Amino acid sequence: MGIMASSVQNPDLSVKIGRIRLKNPVIVASGTFGFGEEYEDFFDLSRLGAIIPKGISLKPMAGNHPPRIFETEGGIINSIGLQNPGFQDFIKDKLPYYKRIRSHLIINFFGNTQKEYVELARRFDEVPEISGLEMNISCPNIRKGGIVFGSNPKMAYHLVRKVRKSTKLTLIVKLSPNVTDIKLMAKSAEDGGADAVSLVNTFKAMAFNIHSRKPELGNLIGGLSGPAIKPIALRMVWEASQAVKIPVIGMGGIMKAEDAIEFILVGASAVQIGSANLVNPRTAIEVIDGIEKYLIQNQIKRVKKLTCLFRPHL
Ligand SMILES: Cc1cc2nc3c(=O)[nH]c(=O)nc-3n(C[C@H](O)[C@H](O)[C@H](O)COP(=O)(O)O)c2cc1C
Repeated sequence: MGIMASSVQNPDLSVKIGRIRLKNPVIVASGTFGFGEEYEDFFDLSRLGAIIPKGISLKPMAGNHPPRIFETEGGIINSIGLQNPGFQDFIKDKLPYYKRIRSHLIINFFGNTQKEYVELARRFDEVPEISGLEMNISCPNIRKGGIVFGSNPKMAYHLVRKVRKSTKLTLIVKLSPNVTDIKLMAKSAEDGGADAVSLVNTFKAMAFNIHSRKPELGNLIGGLSGPAIKPIALRMVWEASQAVKIPVIGMGGIMKAEDAIEFILVGASAVQIGSANLVNPRTAIEVIDGIEKYLIQNQIKRVKKLTCLFRPHL
Protein backbone atom coordinates (compact mmCIF):
# COMPACT_ATOMS: atom_id res chain seq x y z
CA MET A 1 0.00 0.00 0.00
CA GLY A 2 1.64 3.22 -1.13
CA ILE A 3 1.22 6.59 0.49
CA MET A 4 -1.31 8.56 -1.54
CA ALA A 5 -0.70 12.25 -1.95
CA SER A 6 -3.78 13.99 -0.55
CA SER A 7 -5.64 15.69 -3.37
CA VAL A 8 -8.44 18.23 -3.32
CA GLN A 9 -11.57 16.69 -4.88
CA ASN A 10 -14.34 18.43 -2.98
CA PRO A 11 -13.16 21.92 -2.07
CA ASP A 12 -15.06 23.83 0.60
CA LEU A 13 -17.05 26.59 -1.10
CA SER A 14 -18.82 27.79 2.05
CA VAL A 15 -18.35 31.32 3.35
CA LYS A 16 -19.61 33.26 6.34
CA ILE A 17 -21.23 36.68 6.11
CA GLY A 18 -22.19 37.95 9.56
CA ARG A 19 -24.17 35.11 11.07
CA ILE A 20 -25.09 33.56 7.72
CA ARG A 21 -23.18 30.52 6.47
CA LEU A 22 -23.57 30.37 2.68
CA LYS A 23 -23.01 27.00 0.97
CA ASN A 24 -21.12 28.85 -1.75
CA PRO A 25 -20.12 32.48 -2.34
CA VAL A 26 -22.52 33.13 -5.24
CA ILE A 27 -25.55 35.36 -4.66
CA VAL A 28 -27.99 36.73 -7.23
CA ALA A 29 -28.16 40.55 -7.14
CA SER A 30 -31.22 42.59 -6.29
CA GLY A 31 -33.35 43.72 -9.21
CA THR A 32 -31.85 41.31 -11.72
CA PHE A 33 -33.53 38.09 -10.58
CA GLY A 34 -37.11 39.22 -10.02
CA PHE A 35 -38.48 37.36 -7.00
CA GLY A 36 -36.81 34.10 -8.07
CA GLU A 37 -39.76 32.19 -9.58
CA GLU A 38 -38.90 33.61 -13.00
CA TYR A 39 -35.69 31.54 -12.95
CA GLU A 40 -36.86 28.19 -11.58
CA ASP A 41 -37.19 26.64 -15.07
CA PHE A 42 -33.47 27.22 -15.65
CA PHE A 43 -31.95 25.66 -12.53
CA ASP A 44 -32.58 24.54 -8.95
CA LEU A 45 -32.57 27.77 -6.92
CA SER A 46 -31.48 25.81 -3.83
CA ARG A 47 -28.00 25.65 -5.33
CA LEU A 48 -27.46 29.38 -4.85
CA GLY A 49 -25.48 30.75 -1.92
CA ALA A 50 -28.29 33.26 -1.41
CA ILE A 51 -31.10 35.01 -3.27
CA ILE A 52 -31.63 38.76 -3.04
CA PRO A 53 -34.99 39.76 -4.54
CA LYS A 54 -35.94 43.16 -5.93
CA GLY A 55 -35.55 45.98 -3.38
CA ILE A 56 -38.52 46.47 -1.04
CA SER A 57 -39.88 49.73 0.39
CA LEU A 58 -42.49 50.35 3.08
CA LYS A 59 -45.17 51.36 0.56
CA PRO A 60 -45.59 50.04 -3.01
CA MET A 61 -43.75 52.02 -5.69
CA ALA A 62 -44.75 52.35 -9.35
CA GLY A 63 -41.27 53.19 -10.62
CA ASN A 64 -40.18 55.56 -13.38
CA HIS A 65 -41.62 56.43 -16.78
CA PRO A 66 -40.62 54.09 -19.64
CA PRO A 67 -38.34 53.39 -21.43
CA ARG A 68 -36.54 52.00 -18.38
CA ILE A 69 -33.73 49.93 -19.85
CA PHE A 70 -31.25 50.85 -22.56
CA GLU A 71 -28.53 48.53 -23.82
CA THR A 72 -25.11 50.12 -24.29
CA GLU A 73 -21.86 48.63 -25.55
CA GLY A 74 -20.80 46.33 -22.74
CA GLY A 75 -23.65 47.05 -20.38
CA ILE A 76 -27.13 48.35 -19.68
CA ILE A 77 -28.47 51.56 -18.23
CA ASN A 78 -31.62 51.11 -16.16
CA SER A 79 -33.99 53.55 -14.57
CA ILE A 80 -36.52 51.13 -13.10
CA GLY A 81 -37.01 53.56 -10.24
CA LEU A 82 -37.18 50.92 -7.50
CA GLN A 83 -40.61 49.64 -8.53
CA ASN A 84 -41.82 47.09 -5.97
CA PRO A 85 -45.01 45.79 -4.29
CA GLY A 86 -44.13 47.25 -0.86
CA PHE A 87 -43.65 45.42 2.46
CA GLN A 88 -47.19 44.11 3.02
CA ASP A 89 -47.77 42.59 -0.41
CA PHE A 90 -44.25 41.17 -0.47
CA ILE A 91 -44.93 39.28 2.76
CA LYS A 92 -48.37 38.13 1.59
CA ASP A 93 -47.71 37.28 -2.07
CA LYS A 94 -43.98 36.67 -2.52
CA LEU A 95 -42.55 35.34 0.72
CA PRO A 96 -44.44 31.97 0.78
CA TYR A 97 -42.57 30.95 -2.39
CA TYR A 98 -39.20 30.93 -0.59
CA LYS A 99 -40.30 28.33 1.97
CA ARG A 100 -39.57 25.61 -0.61
CA ILE A 101 -36.09 26.88 -1.46
CA ARG A 102 -33.10 25.71 0.55
CA SER A 103 -31.03 28.79 -0.06
CA HIS A 104 -30.68 31.87 2.11
CA LEU A 105 -33.05 34.74 1.53
CA ILE A 106 -31.48 38.17 1.95
CA ILE A 107 -33.83 41.14 1.67
CA ASN A 108 -32.73 44.27 -0.16
CA PHE A 109 -34.63 47.26 1.23
CA PHE A 110 -34.61 51.05 1.20
CA GLY A 111 -36.49 54.07 2.51
CA ASN A 112 -36.95 57.72 1.68
CA THR A 113 -36.31 58.76 5.26
CA GLN A 114 -34.32 57.39 8.17
CA LYS A 115 -37.61 56.47 9.85
CA GLU A 116 -38.68 54.33 6.91
CA TYR A 117 -35.38 52.40 6.92
CA VAL A 118 -35.70 51.74 10.65
CA GLU A 119 -39.35 50.73 10.42
CA LEU A 120 -38.63 48.25 7.60
CA ALA A 121 -35.65 46.71 9.39
CA ARG A 122 -37.82 46.24 12.49
CA ARG A 123 -40.58 44.55 10.50
CA PHE A 124 -38.25 42.23 8.56
CA ASP A 125 -36.57 41.27 11.82
CA GLU A 126 -39.73 39.39 12.81
CA VAL A 127 -39.92 37.28 9.63
CA PRO A 128 -38.38 33.81 10.21
CA GLU A 129 -37.76 33.00 6.52
CA ILE A 130 -35.28 35.87 6.22
CA SER A 131 -31.56 35.26 6.86
CA GLY A 132 -30.25 38.75 6.41
CA LEU A 133 -30.81 42.30 5.20
CA GLU A 134 -29.05 44.26 2.51
CA MET A 135 -29.77 47.96 2.90
CA ASN A 136 -29.58 49.97 -0.29
CA ILE A 137 -28.33 53.42 0.67
CA SER A 138 -28.27 54.79 -2.90
CA CYS A 139 -31.57 56.57 -2.24
CA PRO A 140 -32.32 60.26 -1.84
CA ASN A 141 -33.25 61.41 1.67
CA ILE A 142 -36.44 63.38 1.02
CA ARG A 143 -36.19 65.13 4.42
CA LYS A 144 -32.70 66.40 3.60
CA GLY A 145 -33.62 67.83 0.19
CA GLY A 146 -32.80 64.66 -1.73
CA ILE A 147 -29.13 64.18 -0.78
CA VAL A 148 -28.38 60.54 -1.36
CA PHE A 149 -27.75 58.71 1.95
CA GLY A 150 -24.97 56.72 0.36
CA SER A 151 -22.90 59.66 -0.85
CA ASN A 152 -22.43 61.30 2.53
CA PRO A 153 -20.28 59.37 5.04
CA LYS A 154 -21.85 61.03 8.12
CA MET A 155 -25.40 60.46 6.95
CA ALA A 156 -24.57 56.86 6.05
CA TYR A 157 -23.00 56.26 9.47
CA HIS A 158 -26.02 57.58 11.38
CA LEU A 159 -28.45 55.67 9.18
CA VAL A 160 -26.61 52.37 9.57
CA ARG A 161 -26.35 52.89 13.34
CA LYS A 162 -30.10 53.42 13.66
CA VAL A 163 -30.92 50.41 11.48
CA ARG A 164 -28.37 48.27 13.35
CA LYS A 165 -30.24 48.93 16.59
CA SER A 166 -33.54 47.80 15.12
CA THR A 167 -32.56 44.36 13.81
CA LYS A 168 -30.65 41.29 14.96
CA LEU A 169 -30.43 39.97 11.41
CA THR A 170 -27.13 40.00 9.55
CA LEU A 171 -26.88 43.51 8.14
CA ILE A 172 -25.18 44.15 4.80
CA VAL A 173 -24.84 47.74 3.61
CA LYS A 174 -24.88 48.11 -0.18
CA LEU A 175 -22.66 50.97 -1.26
CA SER A 176 -23.08 53.35 -4.15
CA PRO A 177 -20.07 53.79 -6.44
CA ASN A 178 -21.08 57.40 -7.12
CA VAL A 179 -18.79 58.76 -4.42
CA THR A 180 -15.37 60.38 -4.23
CA ASP A 181 -13.93 57.96 -1.69
CA ILE A 182 -15.38 54.45 -1.42
CA LYS A 183 -13.02 53.64 1.48
CA LEU A 184 -14.66 56.31 3.60
CA MET A 185 -18.14 55.01 2.80
CA ALA A 186 -17.18 51.42 3.61
CA LYS A 187 -15.63 52.55 6.91
CA SER A 188 -18.75 54.56 7.80
CA ALA A 189 -20.89 51.46 7.30
CA GLU A 190 -18.52 49.36 9.40
CA ASP A 191 -18.43 51.98 12.18
CA GLY A 192 -22.23 52.14 12.11
CA GLY A 193 -22.37 48.42 12.89
CA ALA A 194 -22.72 46.72 9.51
CA ASP A 195 -21.79 43.01 9.41
CA ALA A 196 -20.65 43.35 5.79
CA VAL A 197 -20.66 45.76 2.87
CA SER A 198 -21.67 44.93 -0.67
CA LEU A 199 -20.59 46.92 -3.72
CA VAL A 200 -21.08 48.23 -6.29
CA ASN A 201 -24.53 49.49 -7.12
CA THR A 202 -24.92 51.10 -10.57
CA PHE A 203 -22.99 54.10 -11.89
CA LYS A 204 -25.03 57.19 -12.81
CA ALA A 205 -25.22 57.33 -16.59
CA MET A 206 -27.24 58.46 -19.60
CA ALA A 207 -27.73 57.85 -23.31
CA PHE A 208 -29.14 60.11 -26.00
CA ASN A 209 -30.82 59.27 -29.31
CA ILE A 210 -29.43 61.47 -32.07
CA HIS A 211 -32.36 60.73 -34.43
CA SER A 212 -35.25 61.55 -32.11
CA ARG A 213 -33.00 63.98 -30.23
CA LYS A 214 -34.50 62.64 -27.02
CA PRO A 215 -32.99 60.80 -24.08
CA GLU A 216 -33.11 57.01 -24.33
CA LEU A 217 -34.55 56.71 -20.82
CA GLY A 218 -37.84 58.18 -19.61
CA ASN A 219 -36.06 59.33 -16.48
CA LEU A 220 -33.13 60.85 -18.46
CA ILE A 221 -30.57 59.49 -16.02
CA GLY A 222 -30.18 55.84 -15.06
CA GLY A 223 -27.61 53.45 -13.62
CA LEU A 224 -24.96 51.64 -15.67
CA SER A 225 -24.18 47.98 -14.94
CA GLY A 226 -22.60 45.02 -16.73
CA PRO A 227 -19.11 44.28 -18.09
CA ALA A 228 -18.47 47.98 -18.83
CA ILE A 229 -18.15 48.69 -15.10
CA LYS A 230 -16.13 45.64 -14.06
CA PRO A 231 -12.62 47.15 -13.85
CA ILE A 232 -13.91 50.13 -11.84
CA ALA A 233 -15.98 47.90 -9.58
CA LEU A 234 -12.97 45.66 -9.02
CA ARG A 235 -10.83 48.63 -7.98
CA MET A 236 -13.55 49.79 -5.57
CA VAL A 237 -13.92 46.32 -4.03
CA TRP A 238 -10.14 46.22 -3.54
CA GLU A 239 -10.16 49.65 -1.86
CA ALA A 240 -13.12 48.80 0.38
CA SER A 241 -11.49 45.47 1.32
CA GLN A 242 -8.36 47.27 2.43
CA ALA A 243 -10.34 49.85 4.42
CA VAL A 244 -12.50 47.57 6.61
CA LYS A 245 -12.25 44.39 8.69
CA ILE A 246 -15.75 43.07 7.93
CA PRO A 247 -16.53 40.83 4.90
CA VAL A 248 -16.99 42.51 1.52
CA ILE A 249 -19.39 41.23 -1.14
CA GLY A 250 -18.23 42.18 -4.63
CA MET A 251 -20.19 42.76 -7.81
CA GLY A 252 -20.18 44.74 -11.03
CA GLY A 253 -20.05 43.13 -14.46
CA ILE A 254 -19.46 39.53 -13.40
CA MET A 255 -20.29 37.40 -16.45
CA LYS A 256 -18.31 34.23 -15.75
CA ALA A 257 -16.39 32.34 -13.05
CA GLU A 258 -13.07 34.03 -13.89
CA ASP A 259 -14.62 37.45 -13.19
CA ALA A 260 -15.95 36.24 -9.85
CA ILE A 261 -12.53 34.82 -8.91
CA GLU A 262 -10.93 38.21 -9.62
CA PHE A 263 -13.32 39.85 -7.14
CA ILE A 264 -12.59 37.15 -4.56
CA LEU A 265 -8.83 37.59 -5.02
CA VAL A 266 -9.01 41.34 -4.35
CA GLY A 267 -10.78 40.65 -1.06
CA ALA A 268 -14.43 39.73 -1.61
CA SER A 269 -15.82 36.95 0.60
CA ALA A 270 -18.76 36.48 -1.77
CA VAL A 271 -19.96 37.84 -5.11
CA GLN A 272 -23.24 38.86 -6.67
CA ILE A 273 -24.38 38.20 -10.21
CA GLY A 274 -26.49 41.03 -11.64
CA SER A 275 -26.96 42.00 -15.29
CA ALA A 276 -25.52 38.66 -16.46
CA ASN A 277 -28.77 37.00 -15.29
CA LEU A 278 -30.57 38.96 -18.00
CA VAL A 279 -28.25 37.61 -20.70
CA ASN A 280 -27.77 34.01 -19.55
CA PRO A 281 -30.15 32.93 -16.78
CA ARG A 282 -27.77 30.11 -15.76
CA THR A 283 -24.80 32.41 -15.11
CA ALA A 284 -24.89 31.95 -11.32
CA ILE A 285 -24.72 28.14 -11.63
CA GLU A 286 -21.90 28.35 -14.16
CA VAL A 287 -20.00 30.65 -11.80
CA ILE A 288 -20.44 28.22 -8.86
CA ASP A 289 -19.21 25.30 -10.98
CA GLY A 290 -16.34 27.37 -12.39
CA ILE A 291 -15.10 28.42 -8.95
CA GLU A 292 -15.15 24.78 -7.81
CA LYS A 293 -13.21 23.70 -10.90
CA TYR A 294 -10.61 26.44 -10.32
CA LEU A 295 -10.09 25.29 -6.73
CA ILE A 296 -9.65 21.66 -7.83
CA GLN A 297 -7.28 22.58 -10.67
CA ASN A 298 -5.18 24.67 -8.30
CA GLN A 299 -5.52 22.21 -5.39
CA ILE A 300 -6.93 24.82 -3.02
CA LYS A 301 -9.02 23.38 -0.18
CA ARG A 302 -11.32 26.30 0.56
CA VAL A 303 -12.52 29.31 -1.38
CA LYS A 304 -11.88 31.40 1.75
CA LYS A 305 -8.15 31.02 1.13
CA LEU A 306 -8.48 33.17 -1.99
CA THR A 307 -10.19 35.96 -0.06
CA CYS A 308 -7.43 35.86 2.54
CA LEU A 309 -4.62 36.42 0.07
CA PHE A 310 -4.71 40.17 0.75
CA ARG A 311 -6.96 40.02 3.83
CA PRO A 312 -5.17 37.61 6.16
CA HIS A 313 -7.19 38.67 9.24
CA LEU A 314 -10.40 37.12 7.87
C1 LIG B 1 -32.63 46.14 -13.89
C2 LIG B 1 -31.86 46.36 -12.62
C3 LIG B 1 -32.55 46.58 -11.42
C4 LIG B 1 -31.85 46.77 -10.22
N1 LIG B 1 -32.54 46.96 -9.05
C5 LIG B 1 -31.85 47.09 -7.87
C6 LIG B 1 -32.54 47.23 -6.61
O1 LIG B 1 -33.78 47.18 -6.53
N2 LIG B 1 -31.79 47.42 -5.49
C7 LIG B 1 -30.42 47.44 -5.52
O2 LIG B 1 -29.79 47.59 -4.47
N3 LIG B 1 -29.74 47.27 -6.68
C8 LIG B 1 -30.43 47.12 -7.85
N4 LIG B 1 -29.73 46.95 -9.03
C9 LIG B 1 -28.25 46.92 -9.01
C10 LIG B 1 -27.68 45.50 -9.05
O3 LIG B 1 -28.12 44.75 -7.94
C11 LIG B 1 -26.14 45.53 -9.09
O4 LIG B 1 -25.67 46.22 -7.95
C12 LIG B 1 -25.59 46.25 -10.32
O5 LIG B 1 -26.38 45.94 -11.46
C13 LIG B 1 -24.11 45.91 -10.62
O6 LIG B 1 -23.91 44.55 -10.88
P1 LIG B 1 -23.88 43.93 -12.39
O7 LIG B 1 -22.92 44.75 -13.18
O8 LIG B 1 -23.48 42.51 -12.21
O9 LIG B 1 -25.27 44.07 -12.92
C14 LIG B 1 -30.42 46.75 -10.23
C15 LIG B 1 -29.75 46.53 -11.45
C16 LIG B 1 -30.43 46.33 -12.63
C17 LIG B 1 -29.66 46.08 -13.90
